[in-house]
Amino acid sequence: MRVLGIESSCDDTGVAIVEDGRKILGATVRSSSRIHEDFGGIVPELASREHVMAILPALHSVLTSANVPVDGVDVIAVTRGPGLLGSLLVGVTAAKALALALSRPLVGVHHLEAHLYANALVEPIIFPSVALLVSGGHTALYRWSGHGDLRLLGETVDDAAGEALDKGARTLGLGYPGGPAIESLARTVTRCDLSLPVPRLRRPIHPFDFSFSGLKTALVDLAKNHPHQVDELAFALEAAVVQALVEKTVQAALAEKVKRIYLAGGVSANLRLRQAMTEMAGAQEISVLVPRPQDSTDNGAMVAAAGYYAWQLGGRMSLDQAPKTPFSLG
Ligand code: KG4
Ligand code: ZN
Repeated sequence: MRVLGIESSCDDTGVAIVEDGRKILGATVRSSSRIHEDFGGIVPELASREHVMAILPALHSVLTSANVPVDGVDVIAVTRGPGLLGSLLVGVTAAKALALALSRPLVGVHHLEAHLYANALVEPIIFPSVALLVSGGHTALYRWSGHGDLRLLGETVDDAAGEALDKGARTLGLGYPGGPAIESLARTVTRCDLSLPVPRLRRPIHPFDFSFSGLKTALVDLAKNHPHQVDELAFALEAAVVQALVEKTVQAALAEKVKRIYLAGGVSANLRLRQAMTEMAGAQEISVLVPRPQDSTDNGAMVAAAGYYAWQLGGRMSLDQAPKTPFSLG
């Protein structure tokens, strides 16, 4: 079963062909992030225009590299939401056109669920488990009991973890996207005398909720007193974000009595997060699985993998259905 996956919810145009929800036959991601760099964040209109330019060449290059004729695709899967409406429309319109022209089923997938399915590209998912989704727009913890069976355990009440890193990077003059810039600078630090408070909600609505908005102010204050220690400031910011994520996720896995944690989303590419989570969960005999770094950020393969399982469960998107944003999950 070959699923063609299309992702266009933000600033990456991702297309991939995945066999049986697991094996990537061909994949490409075209990012417009360089264009947004000068603005310190994504400009929706520019992102949509770049998707329009990128989508057909991306489709063509994936079919060619996978050596699959266009009618050799069995199902078309596309990110239906959440995301930037103009960006979503480009991928959804292309997917509808293909489904109509080839008479193939169309499946609309949730962007966050697709991120979780980047793990299925490594090995079959083990249920039940706890999944931490950490991206630029979302930070959420789920109990993952089966395909299509996700229950929200907690989420950020303000900024997402990636957003905290992106805003922090802007404060430190490191450009966009901030996560990779913070990570590579932090990696150069061998000794750090600076620290930021680990964000913990005093009275969470839900025990597994997160809050990251206070970190920006704390970072601004610390930077005022240590303006020349940018590398250490980056290290301290990364440490605080990682610690908050690891603590809550391991607590949730223990409370849910599961033996497997999945990480997903752009921030899960972060090596320090991967290592700290593996260490702390390992001490509780809980294993941690992460997607390959290139599958952690937005891409078409995760959409194809999620689409494969959604299709098996009977999920279909009709041609008169529009992108959906906001779009809740679990
Ligand atoms: O999942 P994603 O590609 O797009 C969204 O759906 O948001 O995530 C993008 C986020 C950005 O905030 C970016 O700074 C962060 O993921 N990110 C990282 C790393 N790579 C991307 N954060 C920390 N370390 C990284 N290596
Ligand atoms: Zn994403």
